[in-house]
Amino acid sequence: METKTMNIKVEKAKTSKIDQVDFENLSFGTVFTDHMLICRYKKGSWKVPEIIPYQPLTLDPSAKIFHYGQSIFEGMKAYKDDNDDVWLFRPLDNCRRLNISAKRMAIPELPEEYFMDGLIALLKLEKDWIPKTPGSSLYIRPFIFASGTGFHASPADEYTFIIAFAPSGAYFSGKVKVLIEEKYSRSANGGVGFAKAGGNYAGQFYPTQLAIEKGYNQVIWTDDNTHEFIEEAGAMNIFVRINDTLITAPTSDRILDGITRKSILDIAKDEGITVEVRKITVSEIVEAAKDGSLKEMFGAGTAAVISPIAAFGFRDVDYDLPQLSHSYASLLKKRITDIQYNRAEDKFGWRFKV
Ligand code: COI
Repeated sequence: METKTMNIKVEKAKTSKIDQVDFENLSFGTVFTDHMLICRYKKGSWKVPEIIPYQPLTLDPSAKIFHYGQSIFEGMKAYKDDNDDVWLFRPLDNCRRLNISAKRMAIPELPEEYFMDGLIALLKLEKDWIPKTPGSSLYIRPFIFASGTGFHASPADEYTFIIAFAPSGAYFSGKVKVLIEEKYSRSANGGVGFAKAGGNYAGQFYPTQLAIEKGYNQVIWTDDNTHEFIEEAGAMNIFVRINDTLITAPTSDRILDGITRKSILDIAKDEGITVEVRKITVSEIVEAAKDGSLKEMFGAGTAAVISPIAAFGFRDVDYDLPQLSHSYASLLKKRITDIQYNRAEDKFGWRFKV
């Protein structure tokens, strides 16, 4: 699909940093491109976005983002194919999810064309920053925060929307070992777990630090009420394969409606894999690990793509997952990345040409 974009004012950077970047050895989200998109909400409406050189922001110390954490974000990627054409994956889904998060966090919804046209204009300008190294892509971070001021605990009257780009490699380096968490919770019914709110991630840092001290690198959250059911891992949704059935938890108030998650469900069904979207108990996973029917666990997310889990810990016992030569994780990862990088037919119509 090709689109016409609105006229966005562009202030070009005087010099480019691109020559300083080692595109062969990219980590995740640590170097940023020359420009960013910025759009402000003032006096009751979103103003037309502009592209400006990537730069620090000036904010009043009473900006509500600092005090009440009124902020939301999205995670997306741009992919370059062998012909140097640039592709996005289901970008309108990210735009719509941003507005779902906005509503829950009392942030004014952003017009879809500001998001889409702004993103496309910025991508066209920063095309040379999209890596072609296998496994790399341009990570896209759209976000909105309360830039309006005041200590009153109420929604701000001004907001800032920014899109920033980071050419990135893999999110995880090395094996992924997760701890099933029973004490701390990520989210609750009626809460904001389904939204990509900044605080959802900050709240995970301390329990995750404790897990890292024990040798894990991610936490799998369980439901806040009974801690009997697994939910998501914070940076990714979780899939479990028991025998030949692929299972993931249903989305809810507490679980992010992951775009990779829902794409994986469609691809798995298309592959003829039996798929179940249902609650998964921790005891079911532990029993399956003990009797050998637990074949795979993996995380799925934009940053994580599909990240196989090598082992999980629960109540001071570690359970190793088998290393399969033909795993669902590798099959599904190949199918989804072949669509994203324009290496295969896109029968679902997910790919979007920039
Ligand atoms: C993403 O997968 O894009 C996310 O937003 C998760 C984030 C923790 C890196």
